[in-house]
Amino acid sequence: MSTKHVVVVTRKLPEAVENRLRRDYVPRLNPDDRLYTTDELLMLCEGADAIMPCHTERLTAEVIGRLPDSVRAIANFSVGVDHVDLQAAKDRGIVVTNTPDVLSDATAEIAILCLLGAARRASEGERLVRSAEWKDWSPAFMVGVQITGKRIGIVGMGRVGQVVARRARGFDMDVHYHNRQRIDPALEQEATYHPSLDEMLPLCDVLSLNCPATPETTGLLNDRRIGLLPDGAIVVNTARGALVDDDALIAALESGKLYAAGLDVYNNEPAINPKYRDLTNSFLLPHIGSATRETRDAMGFRALDNLDAVFAQDEPQDRVA
Ligand code: DGY
Repeated sequence: MSTKHVVVVTRKLPEAVENRLRRDYVPRLNPDDRLYTTDELLMLCEGADAIMPCHTERLTAEVIGRLPDSVRAIANFSVGVDHVDLQAAKDRGIVVTNTPDVLSDATAEIAILCLLGAARRASEGERLVRSAEWKDWSPAFMVGVQITGKRIGIVGMGRVGQVVARRARGFDMDVHYHNRQRIDPALEQEATYHPSLDEMLPLCDVLSLNCPATPETTGLLNDRRIGLLPDGAIVVNTARGALVDDDALIAALESGKLYAAGLDVYNNEPAINPKYRDLTNSFLLPHIGSATRETRDAMGFRALDNLDAVFAQDEPQDRVA
């Protein structure tokens, strides 16, 4: 008789996912959805075979070094893995997986929402209506910029970037992208590849960040690169806050160098740089790119497929370490 493996599940997951966990594993669930301290997490991991964390748990080299030997896998409920020290996990022989593909549509939807929200001044408009301060209408009232037919530059033409490109094309946008490597031309859908990010930036009425946060991409959108964008450009970030130098972005929004920014992710979230809140030209969402019912279920099932593979001694499809 095979015994069920013990899995620490750090956050509350969809019911269907938790039911599958209960059926196939001995899950240590978090019904109150409380953010564990590191010590609490480590205590919960005693005798566990695997962890199913989210990006809210920071599995640094130090934390991974303190995990009990019983832990064989970290099956992330996320596509991003910047919260996990992959090398430290590898060094300890812990398999790490993520959940690509399944959240591309949901995240691209939020990128388009951020783009429209920034371009059409949605935060200002919504506040006016809610606060009952909307008093009049005139041709000069709440004029934004149109995105139809404009140029969009996508940084990171992976799965999410490709869906953003498709949706942008629905607005007749001229799509440009920068990636470490050119993608298969069959997937480009007529987007123009730029091997040099700096050379693409002057062509971007809209810049959409869709690449992972890595040591190479940290602070990628800095003062110098913002300077290369056309005056009045719009920045959209639905990837990770670490890609952006906040001081530089805020200064460019304050000075009017940039028209607006639509952001779903931030450095140090949820304790974001408070200056973002004071800007009228920022459209701000609370990291909800993948937050749809469909996608949450799919992320959980994908993480569980990976876990099942690890314990069946198969190669998990989404192994990242
Ligand atoms: C992801 O999957 O990386 C999302 O940002 C949620 O963590």
